[in-house]
Amino acid sequence: MSTALVSGVSRGFGSHLCRALRATGHRVLGVGLSSSPGGAPVDDYRAVDLREPLPRDLFPGQEIDVLVSNAGVYLDDPRLGYGDLFSLTDQDLRDTFEVNLFGAARLVLRHAPLMLARGAGRVVCVSSGMGRLQDADGASFAYRSSKLAANSLVLSVARHFAAAPGDLAAFAYCPGWIRTDMGTPDAPHEPAPAAEDLVRLLQVPAGQANGRFFRGLEELGWDTRGPMVADAG
Ligand SMILES: NC(=O)c1ccc[n+]([C@@H]2O[C@H](COP(=O)([O-])OP(=O)(O)OC[C@H]3O[C@@H](n4cnc5c(N)ncnc54)[C@H](OP(=O)(O)O)[C@@H]3O)[C@@H](O)[C@H]2O)c1
Repeated sequence: MSTALVSGVSRGFGSHLCRALRATGHRVLGVGLSSSPGGAPVDDYRAVDLREPLPRDLFPGQEIDVLVSNAGVYLDDPRLGYGDLFSLTDQDLRDTFEVNLFGAARLVLRHAPLMLARGAGRVVCVSSGMGRLQDADGASFAYRSSKLAANSLVLSVARHFAAAPGDLAAFAYCPGWIRTDMGTPDAPHEPAPAAEDLVRLLQVPAGQANGRFFRGLEELGWDTRGPMVADAG
């Protein structure tokens, strides 16, 4: 049985992802800020604040086959009344990176080398199309740039995986705009199908998934070439 470690499981996309993983026979280990996993169907759970260094023995003796870095914050969300780019506070920029990049990196940099040593594993960062430079609209700089940096992390790991023998893939996944606390009730899509799509991608042969950026089952792609801000002249 394959063991998956998922961050941010007590609500939102992470909770649906745990359900989809369990439904396909995975054993699921969860971490999150809450003291309990809530309704998420996990086999084991640890309360971990991803803004802090990871505990040394998170799940002692457990081999992780699939890591999904899902936990995230969107602090500079204009829909929730956050001001414009120039009102972004140092603390919010820092907290965003602590969870969306440093927290993700702490998990990935701990588990990817173990997967490399075993020659098998999947690393997924739940990212966002908002992390693509071409989608930058002048708002949400903290969130967008943290996801851009997490995408860079995925690509860096994917390079190592591609150069090693075995069944290894690292990819980024955007669930689309989904109805969660972060996505708000206005979102057009439910989280459950997006979670099921991510689990399908885990079954794709490594060479077809490694180094890619998906939205649902489609390849979203990292970025396009060329000027991204129209020439005023
Ligand atoms: N919703 C969307 O439309 C959308 C679109 C594109 C990408 N995404 C991405 O999808 C992922 C999941 O988002 P969501 O919509 O499910 O968000 P959400 O409902 O706000 O849930 C966020 C999750 O992150 C966890 N988390 C936040 N801060 C943490 C910390 N310091 N330490 C540990 N865990 C922490 C929370 O844990 P607790 O429950 O324990 O507090 C929660 O489980 C995020 O990476 C987000 O950027 C979402």
